[in-house]
Amino acid sequence: MTPDQKTYSRIIGTGGYLPERILSNADLERMVDTSDEWILTRTGIRERRIAADYESTCDLAERAAREALARAGVAPETLDLIIVATTTPDLVFPSTACLLQARLGNRSAPAFDIQAVCTGFVYALDVADKYLRTGAAKRALVVGAETMSRILDWSDRGTCVLFGDGAGAVVLEAGEEPGILSTHIHADGTYSDLLMVPAGVSRNTEQWQSGGACLTMQGNSVFRMAVKTLGEIVDETLAANAMRREDVDWLVPHQANIRIIQATADKLGMPMERVVVTVDRHGNTSGASIPLALHEAVKDGRIQVGETVLMEAFGGGFTWGSVLLKWS
Ligand code: COA
Repeated sequence: MTPDQKTYSRIIGTGGYLPERILSNADLERMVDTSDEWILTRTGIRERRIAADYESTCDLAERAAREALARAGVAPETLDLIIVATTTPDLVFPSTACLLQARLGNRSAPAFDIQAVCTGFVYALDVADKYLRTGAAKRALVVGAETMSRILDWSDRGTCVLFGDGAGAVVLEAGEEPGILSTHIHADGTYSDLLMVPAGVSRNTEQWQSGGACLTMQGNSVFRMAVKTLGEIVDETLAANAMRREDVDWLVPHQANIRIIQATADKLGMPMERVVVTVDRHGNTSGASIPLALHEAVKDGRIQVGETVLMEAFGGGFTWGSVLLKWS
């Protein structure tokens, strides 16, 4: 969507939740043939959080959502749209968004999940923004929540060291001031083999039913794709808003790998002090990573009213996208 219109959506509250249990690189050294030094230099990750056995994606989502609602100062009954971005839903159905809606005590808002893996939160913001701009909704809750630990092969050192669990949330409201300036989302399904869980409800079901459905990844190819597509999305976003690189105050990137984040910062000519980084403490929390990072930087006062924030993500699918907003 282009910015030449009268109604915008703006974020009025953020929230985040991380499970208590910390899994450090030293812990992983005891589980697979890896080292703190390898993980840190290749990815920038020092530790990640792992959900307790009794915690589900919806539990994490609820904690983040309640904080976002409290910080926005709005009651859950007043929401007229609920979207959860997740690749690790509690159940096949109902959607995690419906489970969350019931817990929040909202009885009528449309509620649905979005599945775009690590780009899920950006996809969800794109959809919510369109509802709010067109007047189809006035107040939306958008959550990114994941229990990635449940789809990892804990004997595969190439993937299990990268991911973590968590949830982040925002409340959006329609108004005359921006707000979200533009959203841009893409997919190219021909790259689906690069990053996938190759089993599910209707394919390789035996593997799925026996609990053997785990994430597989061609790390090198994903790395190259990520750097390329994120560079392109930065150009696309700036061009759509007739902005220059220096007009962007903050980069809030998907947190997969510090080297990928640095490549995007370089593309923007942006010093790392203007980039919100959580990957060192959270690992890759997939759809939760951007809202968690945004929440952290809003809560600690780094992001100030009037500043321009660029969020960007890439993930399985292959999917990628961005959101440009003015913090207000
Ligand atoms: N500890 C120690 N060694 C490891 C390891 C680990 N955890 N994981 C892989 N290795 C080994 C490999 O087996 C390989 O060994 P070999 O040369 O003897 O075959 C070596 O390290 C190099 O592997 P490679 O895959 O080429 O490393 P890399 O520099 O590409 O880094 C990633 C691997 C996964 C960190 C990197 O490719 C990456 O971050 N890719 C993007 C992943 C991503 O962001 N995914 C999520 C998308 S949303």
